[in-house]
Amino acid sequence: MVGMTPDAGQRSEDVGISLVGVSKAFGRGDRRTAALCDIDLDIAPGSFVSVIGPSGCGKSTLLRLVAGLLTPDSGTIRVLDTSPLQACRDKLIGLVPQSPALLPWRSVLDNVRLPFQVNRAGGRRSSAHRVEGATLDPAEVLAAVGLGEALEKRPAELSGGMQQRVAVARAFAFGAPVLLMDEPFSALDELTRESVRHRLLDLWQAHRKTVLFVTHSVAEAVALSDRVIVMSSRPGRIIADITIGIARPRGPAVELSEEFHDAETQVRLALRKGWADAA
Ligand SMILES: Nc1ncnc2c1ncn2[C@@H]1O[C@H](COP(=O)(O)OP(=O)(O)O)[C@@H](O)[C@H]1O
Ligand SMILES: [Mg+2]
Repeated sequence: MVGMTPDAGQRSEDVGISLVGVSKAFGRGDRRTAALCDIDLDIAPGSFVSVIGPSGCGKSTLLRLVAGLLTPDSGTIRVLDTSPLQACRDKLIGLVPQSPALLPWRSVLDNVRLPFQVNRAGGRRSSAHRVEGATLDPAEVLAAVGLGEALEKRPAELSGGMQQRVAVARAFAFGAPVLLMDEPFSALDELTRESVRHRLLDLWQAHRKTVLFVTHSVAEAVALSDRVIVMSSRPGRIIADITIGIARPRGPAVELSEEFHDAETQVRLALRKGWADAA
């Protein structure tokens, strides 16, 4: 089914990201590696869902499948009720990679403007799925992540945390309703990480995108998410789907609350059970 263009008339408002029976292996014969096994996952539009699991359990593979960069061996993936490839063509998907991937010769503001300029240069026709008028003002988004004074700086003049905030601002300004983030803060120290995730929370609170967020950090997953999906070690399977009911908006003080620690414990126990079952 993947790759088929759906009938626009049948588009459902209820589908953010949906995976049904998705499996993916790499290589052949003796070198075959099963990366993901029978993944069923439904993410409501406008919700924030994190995926957590041990290294090599298939988190990046999952994200790349949803982004249309890989095709599954079996199963179906839908993004806003269209195929991942069509969703990419329609600019419905924004990616925030692990490294900020900024162009060193462009200013902060011009790095955030880049996707708009590339799109105009490409002159590609937008289809029925394109969400018109959804793009945000790059300077305003940069101000929202605390970089209003750094618009004309070059990336080399910024700290790692500031660079990653530029990458987050770029994804939001691009206006895609679905954001896929692959451990975007993993290179940052713990304190910087905490401050960047609160900037991300503020932006998300204001613009409610559908976010699929991969992380190694239990605290990060709990602080950000409506749900935390826990995966087993390879081949990755979903072993827990934990709803984080902590009220929003969530400021930094929430992370000191008992409710927060209880949710963290629940995620940790699910991860440990995954290790114990694999051993
Ligand atoms: N392009 C690829 N070719 C071969 N094996 C791959 C490829 N991408 C990922 N893998 C393997 O699939 C498994 C899952 O990888 P990945 O999704 O990157 O895990 P994670 O992001 O959870 O660390 C790993 O064993 C990895 O080596
Ligand atoms: Mg990865």
